[in-house]
Amino acid sequence: MRLDKFLHNTLGISRSQASQLLKSGVVTINGEIVKTGAHKIKDGDVVKMDDEVIRDNFSQPTYIMLHKPKGYVCTNDDPVHPCVTRLLRDIANAHDLHAAGRLDVDTTGLVLLTNDGQWSHRVTSPRKQCGKTYHVWLADPVANDTRNRFAQGIMLKNEKQLTRPAQLTLINSTEASLIIHEGKYHQVKRMFAAEGNKVVRLHRDAIGSLALDDELAEGEYRFLTESEIDLF
Ligand code: URA
Repeated sequence: MRLDKFLHNTLGISRSQASQLLKSGVVTINGEIVKTGAHKIKDGDVVKMDDEVIRDNFSQPTYIMLHKPKGYVCTNDDPVHPCVTRLLRDIANAHDLHAAGRLDVDTTGLVLLTNDGQWSHRVTSPRKQCGKTYHVWLADPVANDTRNRFAQGIMLKNEKQLTRPAQLTLINSTEASLIIHEGKYHQVKRMFAAEGNKVVRLHRDAIGSLALDDELAEGEYRFLTESEIDLF
C-alpha cells in the first residue's frame, strides 16, 4: 500500500494533509525519514510519526467478504489458477489471509477471508453447525426422494460417515437451494453425484446468517462490520 494512502486510512486525514505531513519530515519507515507519498509500505515495516509508532493495520485481525468469481482458487499452492487473495488489491496483508471455508475453482459466491484462525475455526468447524447455503443448478431434474435422503444423510464415496442432515429446497426441477452443515471436499457436487445427478453451476449465497452482499459484483470485496464479525 502507498504511504499516503496508509496515513489517510490510519489517521483519518485527507491525502493532501498526508502529503503535507510527509513533506514536514516527521514520518519514518524503519527509522528512515520518507517524504514520498508513493512509497510502498511492505509488511513488517515500522511506520512512525514524531517517533511514535502509528498503529498499523498489518497486525490487526482482518475480516473480509469477497464475491468470488470463477477461475480463482482459495489456496495459494495452485500452479495454474490465481488465488482469491489476488483480488484484494488494496489490502496490504492480503497474502496473510486465508479463506474460512473454500470454494472450488468453478464455484462463485461468498468467501470469507481472515487472519484470525480461531474465528475461521468457528466458521468452518462442523461441530459449530454453521450452515452454508448454496444455489445449485443441475443437469437433470432433482429426483423425488433426494430431499428426504439429504435430510437423513447419505453415504459419499470414500467416506465412513453419513453426511449431516442437509436441507434441500427446490426452486424449479433443475435448480435448488441446499444448506449443508459441514464442508467435505466437493461436498455438494458429490452429494448430487450420489443421486445420479450432476451440478452444472454452483454459487454460495450465505454462511450462517451472513449473506453475500448483493452490492458486491463478482471479484469485489468489503470489510465485515463489527456485528457481522460477531455472528461467529
Ligand atoms: N461443494 C462443492 O462441491 N464445491 C464447492 O465449491 C463448495 C461446496
